[in-house]
Amino acid sequence: MTAYPIVTKTQPTFYFVGVTTGKSSINQVFPLWMDVMGRPDVVLEGIDHPIHDDPEAYRATVAQIKQDPNSLGALVTTHKLDLFAAAEEMFDTFDPYAQVTRELSCISKRDGRLEGHAKDPITAGLSLDHIIGQGYFANTGGHVLCLGAGGSGLATLLHLINKPDKGDRPAKFSAVNRSPDRLEHMRHMVGKYNTDIEVEYIVNSDPRQNDALMAALPEGSIVINATGMGKDTPGSPISDDGRFPQNGIAWEFNYRGELDFMHQALRQVDTRHLRVEDGWVYFVHGWSQVVGQVLGIEITPELFQRLAETAATTRS
Ligand SMILES: NC(=O)c1ccc[n+]([C@@H]2O[C@H](COP(=O)([O-])OP(=O)(O)OC[C@H]3O[C@@H](n4cnc5c(N)ncnc54)[C@H](OP(=O)(O)O)[C@@H]3O)[C@@H](O)[C@H]2O)c1
Repeated sequence: MTAYPIVTKTQPTFYFVGVTTGKSSINQVFPLWMDVMGRPDVVLEGIDHPIHDDPEAYRATVAQIKQDPNSLGALVTTHKLDLFAAAEEMFDTFDPYAQVTRELSCISKRDGRLEGHAKDPITAGLSLDHIIGQGYFANTGGHVLCLGAGGSGLATLLHLINKPDKGDRPAKFSAVNRSPDRLEHMRHMVGKYNTDIEVEYIVNSDPRQNDALMAALPEGSIVINATGMGKDTPGSPISDDGRFPQNGIAWEFNYRGELDFMHQALRQVDTRHLRVEDGWVYFVHGWSQVVGQVLGIEITPELFQRLAETAATTRS
């Protein structure tokens, strides 16, 4: 077995594994949350890996968390699939979503055991529930058009598939992706469930075709930008001529960056009676669920409310 260099931390340390971790709002939010959660001794430390890093580099990160007693756990972005693939055998347990999706967004330790979790279906789901409430699809007859079929698009679909009440499931979910691989992965995941949602898989990166898909949606439908365009890459997956569904919802998964898709949607708030949401609630749910898991603190609705209010004080 390879011996990795382990740093013995002098303070309880929570890691943020990403690409440009220093730029995230969590750096301002985290110390405030630790005060709210009664753990002001815990510090946040970023670990930046290049995209698709060497598997050995991922294993070194996991070894640091596993072997140093003061390294408590981590939130993982961007590298969820790669990290799982590189370090699967170093973990003692995986939660059911991690087993199904073979990705992990949270690393925690309990009774000396290293645990991997895929929290995205839970956190994307909590965010969607926050936005639409109960019975949305029964009340509106809307569909979901998800532009981008990566981790967060898949998480949203899995959440909807697992909704026990029919009124909380759309009749149709259309997933659009630039490359076919992610859609194949999604099709494979969906095949593991017995669902009455009609899932459509569309390979496309032409904004005009996305405009046409939007135009065909029934009233009340939800259009999601899960491509990362407008933050990770420039532009928007739709054109300026695209018309959002009447009485529908436009949900941009990001909360920072140029957010072109969100601005296109904001211009149609009055004409189309459109609701526009950004990714802030998703950010707060995503982080609070992982921090709660790592620190062994249940995120009750009351605690979530306090954390959301505290995070909001850092928004410019
Ligand atoms: N607010 C939050 O807390 C929060 C939480 C989760 C995610 N997000 C954001 O949501 C975005 C998506 O996250 P993710 O984890 O799902 O990323 P991801 O796994 O990289 O997925 C993005 C997908 O979009 C596809 N895509 C990119 N450009 C496209 C285009 N023009 N047309 C069609 N498909 C396109 C990509 O296709 P290819 O396969 O061809 O690359 C990829 O499959 C990111 O920007 C992330 O920051 C925010």
